[in-house]
Amino acid sequence: MVVSELDVPVVGAPMAGGPSTPELAAAVSDAGGLGFLAGGMLDAAALREQIADVWASSERPFGVNLFVPAIANTYAAQSRPLDGADRARAVSDYRDRLSTDAARFGVELAEARPDDTDDWDLKVDLVISERVPVVSFTFGLPSADVVHEIQRSGTQVIVTVTDVDEARAAADHEADALCVQGPDAGGHRGTFDEAKEPSTGDLAELVASVRALVDLPIIAAGGVSKPERVAQLRAAGADAVQIGTLLLLTPEAGTHLVHRRALADPAFTQTAVTRAFSGRLARSLVNDYVRAHDGHAPAAYPEVGQVGRALRQAAAGAEDPQWFALWAGTGWRQARPVPAAVVVRDLAAAL
Ligand SMILES: Cc1cc2nc3c(=O)[nH]c(=O)nc-3n(C[C@H](O)[C@H](O)[C@H](O)COP(=O)(O)O)c2cc1C
Repeated sequence: MVVSELDVPVVGAPMAGGPSTPELAAAVSDAGGLGFLAGGMLDAAALREQIADVWASSERPFGVNLFVPAIANTYAAQSRPLDGADRARAVSDYRDRLSTDAARFGVELAEARPDDTDDWDLKVDLVISERVPVVSFTFGLPSADVVHEIQRSGTQVIVTVTDVDEARAAADHEADALCVQGPDAGGHRGTFDEAKEPSTGDLAELVASVRALVDLPIIAAGGVSKPERVAQLRAAGADAVQIGTLLLLTPEAGTHLVHRRALADPAFTQTAVTRAFSGRLARSLVNDYVRAHDGHAPAAYPEVGQVGRALRQAAAGAEDPQWFALWAGTGWRQARPVPAAVVVRDLAAAL
């Protein structure tokens, strides 16, 4: 398995929405870690180009991450608490609330598109035809058939899990490795069920629980920002760590300028986990968007993200960090504007 054979046990997290770039994926892989492209929220044609760019610039293995939509999620299919007319009403109410803020930026909010699958079928075909070395999933568990189909092309499959039940289910579907994500992680929790409130227990304890249950390589993710933490997580049973936030300020990352500035701005003093931006739980710096809307965002992904998109785009255009999604893990103060290779090397220095 690629993960247990890395020169440096550091995975560069896939970061959809801009931060992940072919340059960043190649830089992490060239530094001896495992770089990732973020396939989420990107159409299949754009992802194809990014994959070609990584193939052209690095000889090392890399990964592609895909969001599992509800139609392909064997786990969420078992329970979707907010559904049908209730769901549409909750999203529409939330859109109304955001509209007041959007009006200040002079933009109209789009309607929700609940059937959007994020090009799932095309992207699954793409990673198979491109024979990318590693594919990881988040937001759900695809069927064992899909996992096997991808593996048949020689690709290794990683599933993101946030508790032991999800870990067991992923192992049952014969994933090659698990990305075990804890509560300090920046960006979205990968919870299979969008409505579930995942455990807030310490990542090292979660890794140890999964290790006791499953004999697969484990990548530990969430709030990792210091070499001592890497050593601790490895002692708990992780083969590697996955870092996202720590790479956001690197020159190779495509992080939006508004996001970069906010991460370095001492005026932002805390992060919080909120559904306000997308309907799924995700950790970001606390800004006006979070303060105004955290309390009433429904658990409806991707609709909540769709209806608020124009507001966030307008805020970014106006360089206003208060109405943009400022994803950040709890270790955000440790992020530095240095090359990704330096971040990877320094994190693994003590090993
Ligand atoms: C800006 C940002 C975007 C992210 N996008 C994705 C994504 O597209 N797919 C995914 O599986 N995880 C995504 N994550 C979560 C990471 O995979 C990882 O779990 C997290 O970054 C680890 O915590 P850290 O940010 O504290 O290092 C994202 C994280 C951040 C910070």
